[in-house]
Amino acid sequence: MTQRIAEQNRDRDQKLAEIRRSLGTDSLVLIGLMGAGKSAVGRRLAASLNLPFTDADSEIEAAAGQTISEIFAEHGEAYFRTGERKVIARLLENGPQVLATGGGAYMDPETRAAVKANGISIWLKANLRVLMKRVGRRDNRPLLQVDDPETAMKKLMAQRNPVYAQADITVESREAPHEVMVSNIVDALSARLEPDGPAEPAGGSVKAQ
Ligand code: S3P
Repeated sequence: MTQRIAEQNRDRDQKLAEIRRSLGTDSLVLIGLMGAGKSAVGRRLAASLNLPFTDADSEIEAAAGQTISEIFAEHGEAYFRTGERKVIARLLENGPQVLATGGGAYMDPETRAAVKANGISIWLKANLRVLMKRVGRRDNRPLLQVDDPETAMKKLMAQRNPVYAQADITVESREAPHEVMVSNIVDALSARLEPDGPAEPAGGSVKAQ
C-alpha cells in the first residue's frame, strides 16, 4: 500500500516536472466564468508546479488604484476592458506562471490571440448551479449586481461558453476539493504533452498538438 502511494507520488512529481519543463516561458492561463474557481484553483496549481501565481483582476485593481466595482461604476465596462486587455498583454510577458483571468478577458479577440501566442489556455467549465452557489457568496462582481443574477449568468454562459470552448484544455469544475481540480488539470496537461503515452521524446511541448 505504502509502496503504491510512493509510486503515485513519483508519477505525479514526474508529470509536474515535465509540464514545467515543457512550458518554457509560456503561462498556464485559466479562463471561465465568474465562480468557476480560476483564482482558487490557479493558486494551488501554481504551488504544485512551483510557479508564480498571478491574478489578472488583482493586477488591474493595483494598476488602477481602484477596485473592479469602482472602475465599472466610475468609468464603465468598456474602460475596464481596455485596461484588462493591456494588463493581460503585459502579464503574459512574465511566464512561466499560472495566470488567472477575469471571466470576460478571453472574450476579447486580442487577448485570445495573446494567450494563444504565450500560453496554454485552460477552461474551468462549471454548470449554472455551481457557478451561482460560488458567486452568491460575494457582491464584488458588477455584472451580477442586477435584479436577477441567475438570468444574467445564464446569458453569459450562452454567449461565452462557445468561445471558452476554444481553450487548449477544458476541465470540468465541480464541487470537488480544489486539489482534485488541480490533479485533473495536471492529468490533462500531461496527456496533451504525451498524447500517445509516456514515449514522447524529451523536449516535447505542452503546446504542440
Ligand atoms: C468579469 C469577471 C470578473 C471581473 C469583472 C468582469 C466578467 O472576474 O473581471 O467583474 O466579465 O465575467 P472573475 O471571473 O474572476 O469573477
